[in-house]
Amino acid sequence: MDEGKQVGRGAWGSRLGFVLAAAGSAVGLGNIWKFPYITGENGGGLFVFVYLLCIAFIGLPVMIGEILIGRRTQASPVAAYDRMSGHRRMWRLVGWMGVSAGALILSFYSVVGGWAMHYVVLALQGTFAGASPEQIGAAFGEGLLGSTWTNVAWHTAFMAIAVGIVLGGVHRGIESAAKILMPTLFVLLVVLLGFAMQQDGFSEAASFVFAPSAENLTAGGVLEALGHAFFTLSLGLGTLITYGSYLAGKDDVVTTSATISVLDTGVALVSCLIIFPIIFTFGMEPGAGPGLVFVSMPIAFGSMKGGLLLGAVFFFLLLFAAVTSAISMLEPMAATFIDSFGWKRRRATWVIGGSIYLLGIACALSMTGHLGWWTDIFGKSVFDSIDYITSNWFLPLGGLAVAVFMGWVVPEEDSREEFGAGSRFAALYPLWRFLLRYVAPVAIVCVIGYLFYNTLTS
Ligand code: PHE
Repeated sequence: MDEGKQVGRGAWGSRLGFVLAAAGSAVGLGNIWKFPYITGENGGGLFVFVYLLCIAFIGLPVMIGEILIGRRTQASPVAAYDRMSGHRRMWRLVGWMGVSAGALILSFYSVVGGWAMHYVVLALQGTFAGASPEQIGAAFGEGLLGSTWTNVAWHTAFMAIAVGIVLGGVHRGIESAAKILMPTLFVLLVVLLGFAMQQDGFSEAASFVFAPSAENLTAGGVLEALGHAFFTLSLGLGTLITYGSYLAGKDDVVTTSATISVLDTGVALVSCLIIFPIIFTFGMEPGAGPGLVFVSMPIAFGSMKGGLLLGAVFFFLLLFAAVTSAISMLEPMAATFIDSFGWKRRRATWVIGGSIYLLGIACALSMTGHLGWWTDIFGKSVFDSIDYITSNWFLPLGGLAVAVFMGWVVPEEDSREEFGAGSRFAALYPLWRFLLRYVAPVAIVCVIGYLFYNTLTS
């Protein structure tokens, strides 16, 4: 390493603080909103099984690699790749690609986070109580997606929270927020799970999620499982390089990464076990797509006893999960400007947060039918275009970069030393190296190839 830890760089207050912050990053809309609906669309069981394999054999090794890059260099992604690659331009670019993808994702993520806030209010106002499915559908469609002001106002509120936390810095901002929000989130999950277990549809839901049925699983579904594994573990953007860079050299990265993956997967599965029993009990379709959480769930809340409170709790849960992930998309870019250009945290956070906010407004407007020219050229709204490019291309490419970098570019002695440092599992090094060198790259190249093929043929 060419320089020591920069003075004034942030650091985690404790190992638990890091685990909660990283788990906070991982547990997000991806777990509670997206995972249940793609599980529904892909027919449940077998899809879940494939997803678990992807987490264990591809996601986890890449996660360890990413955190190690950060811990070793004590630097944000661009500087980290730069130093560890011996100042190669290409790797700096990879760093930039990651942090930019984080910023891009945040622009539409914040809009959806705003929806969660809107729904907390709707639930508390009793809007869902006794409302017909049509009325609830309209509340989402015309009432939210169709209303520029509602969309932009909530996006503003959500971004303000994210910026506020990142302004506080690593220890006082991000770690403190995670220490409050994550335990609360776990409690809310348990409360909702307890409720779901009393529903008639619980056993049907459990077998839908866990019994392997191959019915609706396609090759595309398998690749979707891998793509989602990257998204849900927050891989490929340099989030974990950044968070890892605030760790001290002796922290056990292997155990920590496994803990984060287990927590993340647990929340995704529990979310399914909360959502599907309610969906089945109230006779709704599991494959309802993105509207599962914002339409189907409110319909169910509207017709159940205590639905007012449960609905509010559910959307609070979604909101908390979204906030801790959002800050982890903003921090890498902010840290990059702080590390590489010597900006003050205040300035970096405001400038970057502000730019993302403006882009988010474009996403919000594009949903309400504004910015039609963009849709005319690219065939998708700004919102969908950014989602498509980042989730499908940037994340897998970023993950591939980590695997190739740690597996092939970094000298074996260095990677062995880093992997073993502070870890009880140093003996697993050969397995890790094998997964990173062969399994992860081949799987990711398949995903990218499939996407390429799909794009060309459609
Ligand atoms: N993992 C988060 C989720 O599941 C999303 C995320 C992706 C956060 C990449 C940070 C970086 O919602």
